[in-house]
Order: sequence, then C-alpha cells, then structure tokens
Amino acid sequence: MSTSKGAPFRYIDLFAGIGGFAAALEAFGGECVYSVEIDEAAAKVYERNWGHSPFGDITKDANDGVMNVPPHDLLAAGFPCQPFSKSGAQRGMEETRGTLFWNILKIIEAHHPTVVLLENVRNLAGPRHKHEWDLIIQTLRDEGYRVSQTPTVFSPHLLPLERGGRPQVRERVFITATYDPDGILDGVEALPALSNVTQRGTEEWDLLHDLPVDLTDDVPGTELSSAEISWIEAWNDFVTTMWAEVRKGQTDDKPPTLPGFPIWADHWVKSEDLALWMVGGRSPYRAVDVPDTWDEVPRWKKTFLLKNAEFYTRYKAQLDQWASRHDLASFPASRRKLEWQAQQTATLWDCVLQLRPSGIRAKRPTHLPALVAITQTSIIGPLRRRLSTREAARLQGFPDNFDFGPQPAPATYKQLGNGVNIGAVWNVLRAHAERDAEALRTSEPGRALLKALVADAPKTPDERLDAVVARGRARFSEAQLPLAV
Ligand SMILES: C[S@@+](CC[C@H](N)C(=O)[O-])C[C@H]1O[C@@H](n2cnc3c(N)ncnc32)[C@H](O)[C@@H]1O
Repeated sequence: MSTSKGAPFRYIDLFAGIGGFAAALEAFGGECVYSVEIDEAAAKVYERNWGHSPFGDITKDANDGVMNVPPHDLLAAGFPCQPFSKSGAQRGMEETRGTLFWNILKIIEAHHPTVVLLENVRNLAGPRHKHEWDLIIQTLRDEGYRVSQTPTVFSPHLLPLERGGRPQVRERVFITATYDPDGILDGVEALPALSNVTQRGTEEWDLLHDLPVDLTDDVPGTELSSAEISWIEAWNDFVTTMWAEVRKGQTDDKPPTLPGFPIWADHWVKSEDLALWMVGGRSPYRAVDVPDTWDEVPRWKKTFLLKNAEFYTRYKAQLDQWASRHDLASFPASRRKLEWQAQQTATLWDCVLQLRPSGIRAKRPTHLPALVAITQTSIIGPLRRRLSTREAARLQGFPDNFDFGPQPAPATYKQLGNGVNIGAVWNVLRAHAERDAEALRTSEPGRALLKALVADAPKTPDERLDAVVARGRARFSEAQLPLAV
C-alpha cells in the first residue's frame, strides 16, 4: 500500500472487521499503511468504504520468519481473546505463542509503533482472564511501553452525543500504550487508567430521538412476523391488564410496579399447591422444565417458582381470563415468558423488546443493549419493527454514507456486532494522548500524534466521518475504473 505525504501519522488496522478503528483514525487524519481481516465478507465492506483491501491472515504476515507489516506510528487491534499457555517452562512472550496476540507482539517487536491501541471484551479484565491480562501488560512493558495495569472500561452510552456518544451500553476494555523505553521505569506501575475520558451526566438517552431512529414502520427487512406480533399483543394485553390491577390495589404513595422477576405463564400454580408439593405432595406443574421433586429444583429457580405462584394466587381471576383470551399453547415456551425491566412504561409496545431464549425482555426506550454478532435484533416497540441495519450502524457511530453493499442483512448485523464503537475509540485515544502528552512530546512521531489526536481534533468524530467515508468510497470507485489506455 502506498503512503502519501502530509498525513500526520501512519496507522495499521489489525483484525479490521469493517473498519471501526479505521473510521476513528481516518477522522483524526491518519493514513492506513496496512490492514488485515480474515473474513471475506467483512473485508469486502472494508474495501468498499476505505478504498483498500485488507490482507487475509495475520499469522501469515507477521510471525517468526515473515514480517510483511510496514513501519507505522499507531497500531490498532480489536483482537480475538484466546487463553495463553500457563506452562511453567515458558515465560513472557513465549507463553502467548499460538495466539493472535503473539502475532501482534511480533509486529510491536519489529516496529515499536509510538502508540498501541488494543480493544477487547470486558471479560479480558475479569478474574477468569487474569493470567492473560497480566501477561498482556507485562509483555507490552517488556517491549518498552508505558501502560496502566488498571483496565480502561468504556462504553458509548457514557459519552455525550455531541462527543460521539451513542445510546448503546457496550462495555469494552481498552489497553492504550505509549512507546517510552527510557521512561518505562519511571513510576509506570502507578500509571492511572484513563480517567479523563469525557463522561455524560445522569441525563437519560432517548433512543428514538438521539440515534436517531427513522420514525417510520416502513423499513424493508425489519418487519415483525405475524407470530411475533401475536406474542407481543398477548403480553401487551397482560401489561395493560396488570397495570390496571396493581393501581387498584395500591395502598400507599409509592408508585405501583409490575413484577420485576421473570414472569412464567407455564409456572402459574396456586401457592397452596406448591406448598403441598414442597412437602412431598403431587407436583402442580406440567411444564417439562420443572423436575419431579422440589429438592431437585435449582435454588435460583425455586425463588422464581415461589414468586410466580404468589403472583398467580393473588391475581388468579385476571390471569386466567388473560390466558383464555390468547392461544398461549401455540406459542413457543420462550414466548410464554416476560422479563419486565421497563419500570413505569405504560404498554409493551412503548418498550424496546428482545425476543430471547429466556423470554420476551422489555426495557424502556432509552438506550439499547450491546449489539452482538449472534442474537435477535432489538424490536423498537413504538415503531412495531426491528432496528434496521442503518440504525444499527448509527449505534456504532457509522455515518449514513457508509455502504454495506449488496450483502444480506444478517451479515451486516454480525459485522456491526463484532465491531468497535467509533465514538468510544475516538475519546479513549484522545484521553490517552492527553495523559501521555509528556512521553509523546519526546519524539517526532509522538509530537505529530499528539497534535492530530488533541490539538487539531474536533470534539467529536461525527464532524468528520461523512467526509472521510466519502473519501474512502471515492478511492474505492477510482480503483474499480478500468485503466485508461
Ligand atoms: C472483534 S472483531 C474486530 C472488528 C473490528 N475492530 C471492527 O470494528 O469491525 C475480530 C476480527 O478478527 C478477525 N480475525 C480473526 N482471526 C484473524 C486472523 N488470523 N487474521 C486476520 N483477521 C482475523 C475476525 O474475522 C474478526 O472480524
């Protein structure tokens, strides 16, 4: 890949996906000198928008015998998390051999980019991956990097909209490091996590307005099936019926609430029948997921069975009537369950919904849970349809001129679910440059990075994203034109 003069820094984009890092780094003015992505569909979308095609497999390009990655100033990688070897015979970098992090280390060893930016799922900083976490920090320090032992966990919903925030809870771990071989012994253990990443106040998001959601139910590919509508209608009837009931029964000034525990229509039995079963009587349950005896029921489930029985006993007449109004027997078992997490919301159709294996989950239409690669796409209740691919792209910070080409929608949802949020990257990187300003000032590339990431950068990538995607798409179109003869 050729490099142009004038870009303030050169970056490489490892495990590039569709280019969440590329978007932020291009918006900072960076120039990509190498990218790699093994998934062909994602690589095609990347090429279509950034104008160059990622190489296929990092293990072929960066290993013991080969280093095809060129020099660069910033390395970005949202790498797949894999366990490291714990064998006592190996130490440090050797323990990571066989993982993709080892290939990243080979690149770092060869080029020592000024800034390293790694992103991963939150679990990487959790107790189960302590060995991996400690080793990542240790090997980066062994290579001469200033890096904090304390993880920076960040999510786009924590950022104000005008700083590139989005109404999505997507907690990710960021590891940011500055090459500083001379300063490395100087208090690096005490280096704080990034604390100056801009934070939003307590003001709530408004999904429809802030994303924004396109205020129409007519978006091809987002329709609900007639079965889905009948499940939601049934539970909507439940919600409105129960609101009327709990209000009637209200005895104090506290606002009435709907049950917050999982509501399982298959497990509605009278408390007295449950009590008899608990002491060895006949089981009142017909559902296959309840064992023969009370003792065999796992503890967490006991609590929910007891609560559902109490609830049913109290509202038996209303619940029996509700059940008689709907053909519950025709619903899959998971659609006979409701997880109400929407507090005072008046109806189910006013919520955002997820059709999960554990039941229909209802939340207030403030922000969405993290987009993930394999899941049912959220339903925007007020619009009676699913989140569109365009809206999912907005949730990750992509501008509307980002082009997914002719691929099927599930591929787009998957790639977005795998990706990094652009506003989160932008703000984490900026905060990193501010924290490490002193170390960055000690080298020419460091000074250029500092200027691009802080002094010359607008407060939000959104100011520049339309233009950088337009530029990338123009590069792609030019490359498609037949050469003039
Ligand atoms: C968590 S995703 C990163 C997505 C990216 N940061 C984005 O914003 O779209 C990890 C990516 O690594 C890619 N990958 C896995 N093994 C790879 C390999 N050996 N070489 C190159 N890419 C690989 C996967 O296909 C996947 O797209």
